[in-house]
Amino acid sequence: MARRRHAVRAAADADWGFASMHDKRRRVLTMTSLDVRASASRLADACRTLGFPRALWVVPGWTVHRRFVVSVCDLRAALPEPPQGLDLRWTELAATDADIARLRSIDPTSCEAEIARRRREGQACTLGWLGDQLVYVRWDSRGRHTFLPFLGRTLCLLDGDVYSAHACTSRALRGHGIHSTFHLRALHRARELGFVRSISIAAWWNTPALRAGEKAGRTCAGTVGFTRTPRGRRYFAAGAVRLDGTGSFHVER
Ligand SMILES: CC(C)(COP(=O)(O)OP(=O)(O)OC[C@H]1O[C@@H](n2cnc3c(N)ncnc32)[C@H](O)[C@@H]1OP(=O)(O)O)[C@@H](O)C(=O)NCCC(=O)NCCS
Repeated sequence: MARRRHAVRAAADADWGFASMHDKRRRVLTMTSLDVRASASRLADACRTLGFPRALWVVPGWTVHRRFVVSVCDLRAALPEPPQGLDLRWTELAATDADIARLRSIDPTSCEAEIARRRREGQACTLGWLGDQLVYVRWDSRGRHTFLPFLGRTLCLLDGDVYSAHACTSRALRGHGIHSTFHLRALHRARELGFVRSISIAAWWNTPALRAGEKAGRTCAGTVGFTRTPRGRRYFAAGAVRLDGTGSFHVER
């Protein structure tokens, strides 16, 4: 009987891809602590972006009411050329663990589960290099559906849409135009691939993200977000953003 129970457990562990139950527990604990670290990094990033005095009033309000600005860029119109000043180059993320560890070293807000989800959704990951140093990472979603954990809703893209899902510049090098450069390169690349509209979504207080979009010619298409109430989240949308009944939303043209 005991041997049978052991065989069943071993088969279940093999399904999970773990050598033993002990390994599985250790991995779940590690992933949970990485998630907590990712959330703490997100908070630290917000405080860094906002500056401490502003964070004191923005962050408490943000826990209750979240408003995101949805901006779009028409890729059929003229696009500014990316600045050439910095010695920047980019590579596509390979599927190796070393690359993922490297990515997490500059973007600790992306936990393992998050990276796995992005890859499952087929998002393209670009690493940005200044000389030999990794300084930037961005994810672009070209698939039909992208789950947005920060909103708890799925963005449905229309034909010809691409979504700038996430970007992060190494903390030591922020404010030097790295995101503005790679963001523009990504828009040019999307246009070469035949996309006609790029969508991006940023928290209303995320000035660097909004400013880089504005410089690339993005315009505000609307807002989306939610307010926490005792009965759960109350979602809202304005402008061209439409909430669908099924936990998803899209941006009309
Ligand atoms: C958003 C982010 C990627 C911007 O990267 P970056 O390489 O520092 O961006 P840039 O240097 O190109 O700066 C873009 C603009 O924002 C401005 N800016 C930068 N930091 C700023 C700050 N803390 N407050 C106000 N403006 C700021 C820059 O001056 C620049 O505007 P300018 O060209 O008119 O001077 C970076 O702040 C980051 O990694 N944040 C954490 C993750 C995140 O929030 N990602 C975006 C959401 S997906």
